Amino acid sequence: FNVPTPVNEPVKEYRPDSPEREALKKALAEFRAQETDIPMYIGGQEIRTDKKVRVAPPHDHQHTLGYFYEGEAEHVKAAIEAALSAKENWANLPWENRASIFLKAADLIAGPYRARINAATMLGQSKNAYQAEIDSACELIDFLRFNVLYADEIYRQQPNSSPGVWNRLEYRPLEGFVFALTPFNFTAIAGNLPTSAALMGNTVVWKPAYTQVLSAKVIMDVLQEAGLPDGVINLIYVDGPVAGDVIFNNPDFAGIHFTGSTGVFQQIWGTIGANIHKYKSYPRIVGETGGKDFVLVHESAEVDEVAVGLVRGAFEFQGQKCSAASRAYVPSNLWPAVEAKIKQFLDELKMGGTEDFTNFINAVIDERAFKKIAAYIEEAKNSNEVKIIAGGNHDSSKGYFIEPTVLLVDRPDYRTMCEEIFGPVLSIYVYKAEEFTDIIKTVNTTSPYALTGSIFAKDRYVVEQVTKQLQNAAGNFYINDKPTGAVVGQQPFGGARASGTNDKAGSALNLYRWVSARTIKETF
Ligand code: NAD
Ligand code: ALA
Repeated sequence: FNVPTPVNEPVKEYRPDSPEREALKKALAEFRAQETDIPMYIGGQEIRTDKKVRVAPPHDHQHTLGYFYEGEAEHVKAAIEAALSAKENWANLPWENRASIFLKAADLIAGPYRARINAATMLGQSKNAYQAEIDSACELIDFLRFNVLYADEIYRQQPNSSPGVWNRLEYRPLEGFVFALTPFNFTAIAGNLPTSAALMGNTVVWKPAYTQVLSAKVIMDVLQEAGLPDGVINLIYVDGPVAGDVIFNNPDFAGIHFTGSTGVFQQIWGTIGANIHKYKSYPRIVGETGGKDFVLVHESAEVDEVAVGLVRGAFEFQGQKCSAASRAYVPSNLWPAVEAKIKQFLDELKMGGTEDFTNFINAVIDERAFKKIAAYIEEAKNSNEVKIIAGGNHDSSKGYFIEPTVLLVDRPDYRTMCEEIFGPVLSIYVYKAEEFTDIIKTVNTTSPYALTGSIFAKDRYVVEQVTKQLQNAAGNFYINDKPTGAVVGQQPFGGARASGTNDKAGSALNLYRWVSARTIKETF
């Protein structure tokens, strides 16, 4: 049989009075009118505890969106048991049955659940309608559909045989359970990490960030309606270290599918290493982590393209995108024109809550993020090595709002050029055009990360030079484009160095990590 050939889900525009905008407004109003009950799901059962935790929109402290129920170590153990109990039946199910469930989930999100999952992402994670559509609708739908195509490619890969000998590869799931540990910033990633491992026959314990629980619940509703058997994906809300302590000490721990910060991933890797003798198999460790994504501008670049790339790359999604442009290198002869354009574009952007469809900039996710980002900005204000050329204000009285901020730094190794801030802050270093070759080296060495990066240049020799010399500086490299917006099925996504294990999400390279192949040789 052939699996359906996927095409990327078209992005809806939410223009005034369009049917999609009306449906979205209705879904937003429904969430607004109630306090959503957000239970854990273990073995298909809804689990509630005594510890109810309030959920509020990051842009509106006063509103209560709902409550989730925080679990303890015992819930992690129950989720592992449920995953292990469900494993045999799930792993033995012919894979097209598993594929059908995830294809149906994609159709449900594309249709009846689209408005609901977008509204949950807008309210829970403070994204505007267009950003929610790209993330929780299109990217998640694409992951679910394209992963089926990639799984099919894997299952079809077979070794050669010879007369009298038949060689076969059997793509077994990992032995044990998989832990999906997901970040707040992308609903699509939160949905992809547990489902991609499950598609390959694994059963999963899924722990999302506490700031993403509303859209996580909608994902679980979709999966249940699509027919996911009980126990295949178990969703728990447990403090990270508490969950980690149970998971990483369990002999059946078979792998982690992580996206989040570099620091947390390195700590987890250390714990797994220290416990390695406890496990039945060497666990698969897959992690996509932080970034300090660059934009390198050559003097042959086109000014408008550069300014659009910088503003969209740095400030869409409030800069809370692993791929967000956060450091740029601009030649002094282009800088006055680039600066003027950036300021002009930023003057046009409105900041505010997500339910007003004219707002481009929304709130950052929580108090911790707000304080961290604001501290970088305040330090810059007090430094004689930095000039703030746009933004710089922040206000958490109603929600966690930070103005899109552009810092002009005196030296290319100033702190904000090296460290991940994960917010709407862009640092720019202006270099003399004749220093271009040295600047390429600087881009390569000032940050430990290697997630995304762009070169803006019309000179093809320069494009070639930079592409070669920065070959290890970014897992996703863009020529004359912003360093964000990878599309599943088009640009497999992931970074190297401190940015992750580079097991490209949205490709067969990722799905290979969730199988453990057995070679069978039969002689006649
Ligand atoms: P985070 O590292 O704070 O949290 C990720 C997950 O780990 C959450 O579920 C969290 O609760 C859990 N966690 C935190 N500390 C833990 C611990 N000690 N033990 C076990 N679990 C723990 O990340 P975040 O703030 O949710 O997301 C933002 C980060 O994710 C940024 O660094 C961003 O660059 C990165 N990110 C990377 C990619 C990528 O593809 N490379 C994509 C999205 C986000
Ligand atoms: N897929 C998202 C991007 O590339 C993370 O920006």
